Amino acid sequence: MKALVLAGGSGTRLRPITHTSAKQLVPVANKPILFFGLEQIRDAGITEVGIIVGDTHAEIEAAVGDGSALGIEPTYLRQESPAGLAHAVLTAAEWLGDDDFVMFLGDNLIEGGIGHLVEAFERDRPAAQVLLKAVEDPSRFGVAELDDAGRVVRLVEKPEHPPSDLALVGVYLFSPAILDAARRIEPSDRGELEITDAIQRLLDDGQEVRASLIEGWWLDTGKKDDLLEANRIVLGSVRRRVEGEVDHDSELVGEVVVEAGAQVVRSSVRGPAVIGPGARLEDAYVGPFTSIANDCVVERCEIEFSVLLERARVHDVARIEGSLLGRDVVVSRTQRRPSAHRLMLGDHGLVEISEP
Ligand code: G1P
Repeated sequence: MKALVLAGGSGTRLRPITHTSAKQLVPVANKPILFFGLEQIRDAGITEVGIIVGDTHAEIEAAVGDGSALGIEPTYLRQESPAGLAHAVLTAAEWLGDDDFVMFLGDNLIEGGIGHLVEAFERDRPAAQVLLKAVEDPSRFGVAELDDAGRVVRLVEKPEHPPSDLALVGVYLFSPAILDAARRIEPSDRGELEITDAIQRLLDDGQEVRASLIEGWWLDTGKKDDLLEANRIVLGSVRRRVEGEVDHDSELVGEVVVEAGAQVVRSSVRGPAVIGPGARLEDAYVGPFTSIANDCVVERCEIEFSVLLERARVHDVARIEGSLLGRDVVVSRTQRRPSAHRLMLGDHGLVEISEP
């Protein structure tokens, strides 16, 4: 069994963060989303991992490297254009050969790992196995229709009128039959070769496609609110660990991680929260579900339910919540006149100002 991990694509829904970096490397609890999937693959006993990369290949390759830190052996496979998930499978055809494989979308996270799924697939060897999860807004996803016996009868990609509330999760198990099916589909309305259509083709051919409903959480971190939700859930399982400096005027409450080299000065941190190496909090309050990455600075400010990427700086701002700040972002208060908001925002930035 091999694994094919998709780390290409353009990440339009996480702009402007993804103007400059790969969506799969946006951190959750200070760890790139992609690493969670790679660790689950390794924990399922799979070491041969093909990683589909696109325009952001240099960044992905720099992060994953030779894979030794993650216990995997990666092969980077270049997809020339983000032409769909089935196109990615075809890009990997030669590398996949005749092996079964698990396909894992690099911006998806699922609870509890994939070991049991891999075992069941290897035991029964259907042509494909999909994971489904009941969601409130199925039209954002691929959607499955099941018969009374729970068998998949139809799969549709982002339907306007969903036949059920069962979304296709971004983790799939395939036999090599999927390659032949992917060769026999046409691009969808959004111009992509959809994996959903390739699996439908297997169904049309009378091949066995199994579906299992997942009970635990599933997160597709493609948008800001989903990313904050992923961060909230993952932080829910961190345990207190304080390796940085915390002065006597500071207070840490609950599950707080202060990494080595971080400084907490006259501040209060209520977990779950993680403070990355080299970060500095001064006269600050950091509330639950906040991840502060390496070398960030938070001074005279309250921040909660937010994610700060490397070197972001926030000072003298009353309170920040529900926010995602990219690398080297600065948010500050100024006494300069005229008294006004002065902004320097990238394309697709978003600012919501709460007066006074
Ligand atoms: C893709 C699949 C979709 C699936 C989703 C899961 O959507 O096409 O069927 O439900 O991943 O994250 P995309 O992210 O390409 O819009």
